[in-house]
Amino acid sequence: MNAATRKLYYSIPPAWRFAVRRLYYLPLDTWESLTGQRDGLMPPRGLIFTGGGDFRKTGEMLAGYFKEYCSLLPHYQVLDIGSGMGRIAIPLTRFLNEKGNYEGFDVVQRGVDWCTKNITARYPNFNFRYIPLDNDLYRAGGDSAVHFTFPYADESFDLCVVNSVFTHMVPEEVENYFTEVRRVLKPGGVCYATFFLFDGKTAFPKGFDFPFDHGHYRLMDEQVKSANVAFEEGYLIKELVGKNGFSLRHLFYGSWRGLPPKGCKEFQDITIFEKLRN
Ligand SMILES: C[S@@+](CC[C@H](N)C(=O)[O-])C[C@H]1O[C@@H](n2cnc3c(N)ncnc32)[C@H](O)[C@@H]1O
Repeated sequence: MNAATRKLYYSIPPAWRFAVRRLYYLPLDTWESLTGQRDGLMPPRGLIFTGGGDFRKTGEMLAGYFKEYCSLLPHYQVLDIGSGMGRIAIPLTRFLNEKGNYEGFDVVQRGVDWCTKNITARYPNFNFRYIPLDNDLYRAGGDSAVHFTFPYADESFDLCVVNSVFTHMVPEEVENYFTEVRRVLKPGGVCYATFFLFDGKTAFPKGFDFPFDHGHYRLMDEQVKSANVAFEEGYLIKELVGKNGFSLRHLFYGSWRGLPPKGCKEFQDITIFEKLRN
């Protein structure tokens, strides 16, 4: 998407964006449904509001990273923050065993409803919750994420996944989520989170340049703040990771910053950090 198309896209209210997408894909979705080309664990294209790319392949690739870099095991308790349309849950249904458990929450009801109807119905150890929090990219209105307490017990998860979610949240919200992730992770538990990180030295790529400077964070669009948010790398490491008692295990830079896609794991920057044992 170029900068002008992106600006136009952000200017459309969230409910309209959902409707346009649904209508655009309706013929193909109907065809795939009639010809049996889509199984029950694959959402219709028109419902996938969570980004482009190959839904299934991306999910598989992410699950691979959780195993390789986050030490994910089949009996683990997993929390997926911003569970979207189940892109992360679906591959995990084939990996987590009966002792394992997956919890996801999201601010968009239609995603949570689809996941509950299609994933929980087949895999009862996969649960999804709708939490109506404010996010000016995805929904109109709701409570602030700044004061939200995750509805889970202390030290109940081995892995928290926050894929392409902090890229749509402002710092005060992210700071609260870091406190909550720390609370719900077991000692030694791991968080996989993606960001757009800048260091003040490297130039932003043309067309993806976060023009609105707020010091330790930058926005792509001043009107729709959650559209895309970039964070200063030093702020992430010191204020979010360090001050919350985490240690950074991995940082893989993404191709968004102009690096060759072949040498990158993902478009966004991947961070993997671990909750220190006291
Ligand atoms: C780009 S999508 C990524 C979805 C999913 N993590 C994935 O990788 O497929 C961003 C998701 O974050 C959700 N979201 C936005 N603000 C949120 C918040 N404060 N708490 C939880 N989820 C949020 C959106 O509704 C959307 O589903």
